[in-house]
Amino acid sequence: MTTQVQSVTDRQAISSGIDAVEAPVRAFFDQYADYYERSWDMREHGLSVGMFENYAEADAEPGQDLEDAYQRSREHVVDLLQRIRPLGANSRVLDVCCGTGATLSQIAERYACMGLGVDISSAQIRHAKRLRNQCGKGGCGQLVFKEGSASMISAVAGDTAPLTHVFSQEGLLFAHDKRGAMQGICDLLEVGGALVISDFVPQMSKQELDASLRARVYEDVKWAAGLSFGQYLALINRSGFEVVQAELRPVDMRMTYQELVPRTRALAAAGDETYAFLARRYAGIVRAVDDGALSWGWFAARKR
Ligand SMILES: C[S@@+](CC[C@H](N)C(=O)[O-])C[C@H]1O[C@@H](n2cnc3c(N)ncnc32)[C@H](O)[C@@H]1O
Repeated sequence: MTTQVQSVTDRQAISSGIDAVEAPVRAFFDQYADYYERSWDMREHGLSVGMFENYAEADAEPGQDLEDAYQRSREHVVDLLQRIRPLGANSRVLDVCCGTGATLSQIAERYACMGLGVDISSAQIRHAKRLRNQCGKGGCGQLVFKEGSASMISAVAGDTAPLTHVFSQEGLLFAHDKRGAMQGICDLLEVGGALVISDFVPQMSKQELDASLRARVYEDVKWAAGLSFGQYLALINRSGFEVVQAELRPVDMRMTYQELVPRTRALAAAGDETYAFLARRYAGIVRAVDDGALSWGWFAARKR
C-alpha cells in the first residue's frame, strides 16, 4: 500500500518536473528554430553535431566542410542501426527529439520504410512537416511527425509500436525523465530491435563549471542536467538493452562548434543580436570541450 502511494507521488513529481523543466526548453526551440534553420546546416537543416574524419587528435584543424560532417553523422546513425538490425521496407523507425527530421527522412526514403519523428517543439515539427517529403508512396517511405515529450515517449508513440529501430541525436539531454524515456523506448521496440543515441555527455558536474561557462553550456539553452558516459551506459543496460558499441568523440564536437562560431558571427554582423548570442554559446562549447567538461557520446544497443 505504502509503495503504491509512493509510486503515485513519484509519478506526480516526475510529471510536474517534466512540465517545469521541459516548458522552457520547448519555448527556447520554438523561439530559435528559424535561426537554427538559417545557420546550422545549410544543406539538410538538421541540428546535430558533425562528424569529421581524417583527423588526429593532436592536429585537429577546422576548415572541413560542416555540411559534409553533418551528413557523416547521419550516415553513422544508419550504419550503427544496420549493424544491429538491417533496415528494409518493413522497418518501423522512431526518431526521438527529431527536430526537423533530416536523418529520419533520409532513412525513410532510402529504405522506403515507416518513420515517426517526435519532438517537443511545435516550431521544429512545423519545419519538419514543411521540409520533408511525407508522400508515403513508392521509394519515399512514410513519414509522420508528432509533437510530444521524450520523457513520455511510450504514450506519444505507443500506437506505432512495435518498432524495429529507434535513434536520437542531441536531444535526450533535454528530457527531464531520462529513465522514463529509456524505459519507454525499450517498451516500444521489438526484441532484437536497434537503439542508437548520440548526445551531449558532461564530464564535470554543472557546479564545477565557472559561472560564465555554466551559462554558455546550460543556461543559454535551458539545459537542466545530463548523463555522464558511465550513467548513460548503466541506464541503457538497466532499461533492457545490451550495449553493442559506445564511444566519446570530443574532437568532432569541438570542430563542429569551432566551425559554427565564424559562420554565426558573420550573420551577427548584419545586426541581429540572436546570432551574436548563438556565437557566444558556440565558443563556450569549444571551451567546455577543451576544459574536459563536456564531450559527445555515441551509444548503440540491442534490445534484449
Ligand atoms: C539539438 S536539437 C537536435 C534535433 C535533431 N535530433 C537533429 O539532430 O537534427 C534538439 C531537439 O530536441 C528537442 N527536444 C528537447 N527536449 C525534448 C523533449 N523533452 N522531448 C522531445 N524533444 C525534445 C528540441 O525541440 C530540438 O528539436
